[in-house]
Amino acid sequence: MCGIFGLVSARERQDLGAILVEAGQRLAYRGYDSVGCATVNGAGVIDLRKDVGRVAEVSERLRLDQMRGQRGIVQLRWATFGAPSHRNAQPHLDCDGDMVGAHNGNVVNNVQLQDRLVRQGHTLRGTNDGETCVHAVEHHFDRNGGDMVDAIRQAYDDLAGDYALLITHCDENRLYAIKKGSGLVAGLGPDFTCASSDLPSILPLTRTVLRVHDGEILVLSPEGVRIIQVDTGQEVDREPVEITESMESVTKGGYPHFMLKEIHEQPTAAAELLHLLDQSVHVDRFLEILRASEPVFLVGCGTSYHACLLGAYYLNQIAGRLTVPMLPGQFITRAAGSVGARAAAVFVSQSGETKDVLNAVKVARSRACRTLGVLNVIGSTLTHASETYLPLACGYEISVPATKTFMNQALLFLYLAYRLADRDPAALDAVPGLLESTIAVTDAPARRVAETLAAWDELYYLGYGITEPIALEGALKLKEITYTHCEGIFSAEFKHGPLSAVRAGYPVTFFTAPDDVDMMINHVNEVTCREGRAIAVAQDNDVLRSNVQDYLAVPPSDPWVFPLLATIPAQLVSYYASVARGFDPDFPRNLSKTLTVD
Ligand code: G6P
Repeated sequence: MCGIFGLVSARERQDLGAILVEAGQRLAYRGYDSVGCATVNGAGVIDLRKDVGRVAEVSERLRLDQMRGQRGIVQLRWATFGAPSHRNAQPHLDCDGDMVGAHNGNVVNNVQLQDRLVRQGHTLRGTNDGETCVHAVEHHFDRNGGDMVDAIRQAYDDLAGDYALLITHCDENRLYAIKKGSGLVAGLGPDFTCASSDLPSILPLTRTVLRVHDGEILVLSPEGVRIIQVDTGQEVDREPVEITESMESVTKGGYPHFMLKEIHEQPTAAAELLHLLDQSVHVDRFLEILRASEPVFLVGCGTSYHACLLGAYYLNQIAGRLTVPMLPGQFITRAAGSVGARAAAVFVSQSGETKDVLNAVKVARSRACRTLGVLNVIGSTLTHASETYLPLACGYEISVPATKTFMNQALLFLYLAYRLADRDPAALDAVPGLLESTIAVTDAPARRVAETLAAWDELYYLGYGITEPIALEGALKLKEITYTHCEGIFSAEFKHGPLSAVRAGYPVTFFTAPDDVDMMINHVNEVTCREGRAIAVAQDNDVLRSNVQDYLAVPPSDPWVFPLLATIPAQLVSYYASVARGFDPDFPRNLSKTLTVD
């Protein structure tokens, strides 16, 4: 997830570079692959330095901390489309080098806008959408006689997607910012003002901040910040607020743990993914390969494997495509011997670095099997190892238990299934709102269920058909962060052995899709008639409700969306059970976010 910070000062500052580097360090927790700083001095000379790498190493190489000037911008780039490279690193200059700017977020009509700008005579140096933002402003600025606010208002209409932009012109000691769907907040100091994509980079400088809303332009000068509405051009009066929370709590967005923050980020991440997929040229290429290949394997580890399981249901039931979900080791030992150039394998990995997955990619390539990637970290090894890839657009996931990356992996497969079946994926636009309301309605009941489960050391989560992957994923989440053994299985298999675990009060959780209620009631009763306690995760259903002891009801939705919604209470139950048992869910013992060993 990109991060931006900019500051404008009344005087020439010798420490401007050091301030920008420190702000960059504070944005680093969001994740990034390249860093850049631009400063402008009193004479209007722009100094731009940027490259791929970590803040400390790029700073040392390019002496970012020695940059000087009256105003400056730092940007950390997290690549979505457009490889991490010097050209794509931000900030960017306009054609004639008198404007410099950087953004955070995604401009989804980037390809079309770049074509248009090139036809209009602009010189673009890379493919990054931040560069498009700068040229879009330049385009209007050159035509309106040099009015930055007016140029930004017009560029706002050109730039589709969710983003925040910081930009400055060499002739004015001002910074301009715009917010459209991505985070932006301003800070007020004694002889400076600043703006950033998030608070942690502002707080060491000032605790007086101005909240910014979507559709607002900021005009930052050393004396203060003006807020202008994009649509009316009217100035808005807003009182600054004083921030009293600690830096740690601000970094976690006010949540006690990153995991809870990331659970709550799922609606936004899902919306961003859908925007990206709708505009992406990579999707067509991906679909073309899937259509032309047989068999198709979906390969991943851990949580990513569970997304493969759900993906296989979606591709089979919606698009009528038989796809085979496999662990990497299974792919190597059970499938690779018989695959060739007709086959395709989709390798799913949030980190893009999991060694087991990369081993399987290598074997697939050696057999000429088509290799596709689904990953969150652009620039990771899987990005290069696969023929083409789709990004998950989740931003950085800090907590070890994967939450938002699983959600977007599953949503991505649902989207692909819709496209393969020639269904309109616009139907999925309801998903972010449904995720949001699911979090709201299941939070309190999940906390209560977590208290029940936290008292047991071994548990079962059951799913039938399309909810089987959710039962497995919910069980994995619980194992990872509560150190309880929880087995996720296909509910019809429970009677073939594990049923012997049931005794008085023993809790068994049933993930029940709307079409499977009747079947699941049989499985529920096999537990309750032996004095077990049944917990249902389902849409509201009176008959099911009358058969169970606890009910985690998710909002009504399309049956295909149900597994996504049912994932949320499973995540929340694990989170609250972990906290109830006194553990830190973000950093469970023995586990690592990225496993680069066999
Ligand atoms: C590790 C993590 C798991 C993750 C798995 C696969 O074991 O602890 O949470 O699901 O790796 O990671 P990947 O990055 O390939 O999705």
